[in-house]
Amino acid sequence: MLNTRQPVLRNFWYAALPVAKLDEGPKPFRLLGQDIVLFLDAAGQPAALEDRCCHRTAKLSKGWIRNGHIVCGYHGWEYDGTGKLVNIPQFPFEQAVPDARARSFHAKARYGYVWVCLGEPIDDIPDLPYEDDLTFRRIHQFDELWRCSALRMMENSFDNAHFAFVHKGTFGDIDQPKPEKYELIETHYGFVADTIVPVRNPPQAARITGTSEPWTRRKMRNAWFMPFCRTMDMEYPSGLRHVIFNSATPVDDGSIQLIQILYRNDREEDCSTEELIAWDKAIIEEDRGILESTDPDAIVDMGRKLEMHMPSDRPGMLMRKRLNALLEAHGEHEVPR
Ligand code: FES
Ligand SMILES: [Fe+2]
Repeated sequence: MLNTRQPVLRNFWYAALPVAKLDEGPKPFRLLGQDIVLFLDAAGQPAALEDRCCHRTAKLSKGWIRNGHIVCGYHGWEYDGTGKLVNIPQFPFEQAVPDARARSFHAKARYGYVWVCLGEPIDDIPDLPYEDDLTFRRIHQFDELWRCSALRMMENSFDNAHFAFVHKGTFGDIDQPKPEKYELIETHYGFVADTIVPVRNPPQAARITGTSEPWTRRKMRNAWFMPFCRTMDMEYPSGLRHVIFNSATPVDDGSIQLIQILYRNDREEDCSTEELIAWDKAIIEEDRGILESTDPDAIVDMGRKLEMHMPSDRPGMLMRKRLNALLEAHGEHEVPR
């Protein structure tokens, strides 16, 4: 699926970047091929505007912030958080500023990230109950550009047949290629997929899993939030929960901003942030290596390309079926390359 050709995808919220990055000043971001600028408005809330000054088209992200307004770096025109032009410094004091604006988009802060919706939101930002649960801490793990499509990343998130191969260097076992089955429950926002997976537990994972046994088990409850977010809630026999949230934010047709937030029901002294990042980094680099080799024109129409469906492909198939239904409900069809 080529994301930029499916207008309905503009009607979802996507995590863009950590709110803290906006303390440094305005930041450019590309979402579904649309260049935007993000900044903090006069109330300290995130604002998203088209990254174009309506004077001579300079990118507003080249400018700076003054009293919660974004100042264009070319001739100093100033816009507020709604995109309204509020100052032209070359005008005499008594001359009114013309009624002009930069296009604005919905923006919100949630879970430490700026979320943006380019159209009218169909659904709310995914609800992460761990956020308000005091037994969990939140760790900002990754926020990086990957050269793969958002749908391929999402399919991979529910595909446990890749563990034995892609993750043979970390938790996977090449001698156990037969994946466990998922129980799937459809929800209004996507689905929940439950399974239990035996995993290798090398010494560097002992504090992650809470055991030094060479093998352990993950009870996994994964949730898919249409179109490109998921949570992977892993519970180990030690009682430790390692819950990963990902947003495969579609930058354009061939790249995503891969965002990963971790929730853990332990404390820093049990397992340091540094350790948690190092272990999960090794795992996502394995995924990244293979995902960046896949075709970004990832189909939703199951008939278009041949795939020999394995039982472990069921979540991916359901995902594509739901996305196809979404496109059809909005009068869209997949546009082949
Ligand atoms: S191009 Fe922005 S002020 Fe002139
Ligand atoms: Fe993986």
